Amino acid sequence: MFVIRAKQALTMPKDCDQLRTYEADGALQRRDDRLVGLIEDAAVVIDDETIDWIGPWEDRPRSLRSRDVQVLTSDVVMPGWIDCHTHAVFAGERSDEFMWRNAGKEYVEILEAGGGILNTVDAVRQASTESLEQTLIGRCLESIRQGVTTLEVKSGYGLTTSDELKSLKAVAGVQPEVPCELVPCFLGAHAVPRNFRGRRQDYVDLVCQEMIPEVAKQGLADYCDVFCDRGAFDAEEARRILEVGREHGMIARVHADEITDAKAAMMAAEIGAASADHLEHTGDDAIEAMADAGVVAVLMPAVNLFLGTLDDLAPARKLLDAGCEVALATDFNPGSAMTQDLGTILMLGCTLYGLTPGEALRSITAGAAAALRRDDIGGLRAGTRADVACFAVPHYRYLPYHFGTSHAEAVIYRGDFAYWTDEVALEE
Ligand code: NIG
Ligand code: FE
Repeated sequence: MFVIRAKQALTMPKDCDQLRTYEADGALQRRDDRLVGLIEDAAVVIDDETIDWIGPWEDRPRSLRSRDVQVLTSDVVMPGWIDCHTHAVFAGERSDEFMWRNAGKEYVEILEAGGGILNTVDAVRQASTESLEQTLIGRCLESIRQGVTTLEVKSGYGLTTSDELKSLKAVAGVQPEVPCELVPCFLGAHAVPRNFRGRRQDYVDLVCQEMIPEVAKQGLADYCDVFCDRGAFDAEEARRILEVGREHGMIARVHADEITDAKAAMMAAEIGAASADHLEHTGDDAIEAMADAGVVAVLMPAVNLFLGTLDDLAPARKLLDAGCEVALATDFNPGSAMTQDLGTILMLGCTLYGLTPGEALRSITAGAAAALRRDDIGGLRAGTRADVACFAVPHYRYLPYHFGTSHAEAVIYRGDFAYWTDEVALEE
């Protein structure tokens, strides 16, 4: 057992419905403090793998005062960050496409011409499981260093049964090697592979009849995702795939309306998906439907920055005002968001979407946990998993403000140190 004494602890309370409406002026900061569940001068008591107690330092349980309990002192502590949407298991890189896009070619043109995602598919098919694992380990450590304790990872660069399984097996193989949780998600319907061009239905059949049953049988993914957009799969194909996934126990998520209004977010609401991600072209009717159905909106502003599509921002404020839970994520992938920098995503959430610092920080903890339909992470409460990120910053609002560098001084995963700097030490 040990205690963290923090100048500020952010608990990320679950029910913040009454706080959704944006208030102006002086009230903004007070509202933000409530939104993050701020405790000034806090004690966070960690017992084994869980949070045992959290509250003001002066109210800490008696037993902690009398015994020689070890104390870690930090500035701002909050639930470990959750990057709830990544494509981190990939091989190769696509800097050539980056150059072409900046010279005027569009992302979807490259995809429809048989490049883009399909170029990474070639690289993943050639890669061994071991090399996929080695690269993924490095990427996990990079995320952990920033404060991440849970990383969702999608397949989707294999597009044959064996190559999709290879990617998911690499994720499973890496799990025991890294101090963060990897959440595998099956994305066999990421693109139509070249040998199925003009035979999309056959590929959808393969996903439904072979890939999903095999992934489920081997227990390699609890989530199923589909890229539902122009150049990929339409809403009816996506619905069918996600329903088959659900029959096999997988929770539905959707890459929705990133390039066009493909009616994907509406379909996500109709089937009660856990999340609809991207949403750059989602219409108002779908926003209402998502809020009613409790579909979490996962927004990834690095994509707009990286593709140069800053005129196509997702309607973040509308989603919040409608009552949707919002999550922010990196979308880390070699084509549309080559970054693992969740700290910069926080900043972009504020500058591009107009989120407050509290809303942005909620979105990579409580919001991201909701996108994964998880209760045990994303908040600091008695009983939640002891995943805690400790930052050396003057106050929590500083985190999205000073971007491009990691402020983490200690990262605790399941009650154990996953990362720490020389500045921190446990003292009696
Ligand atoms: O989320 N949009 C589809 N999938 C990824 C991009 C993948 C790639 O280009 O390799 C995304 O943006
Ligand atoms: Fe994605």
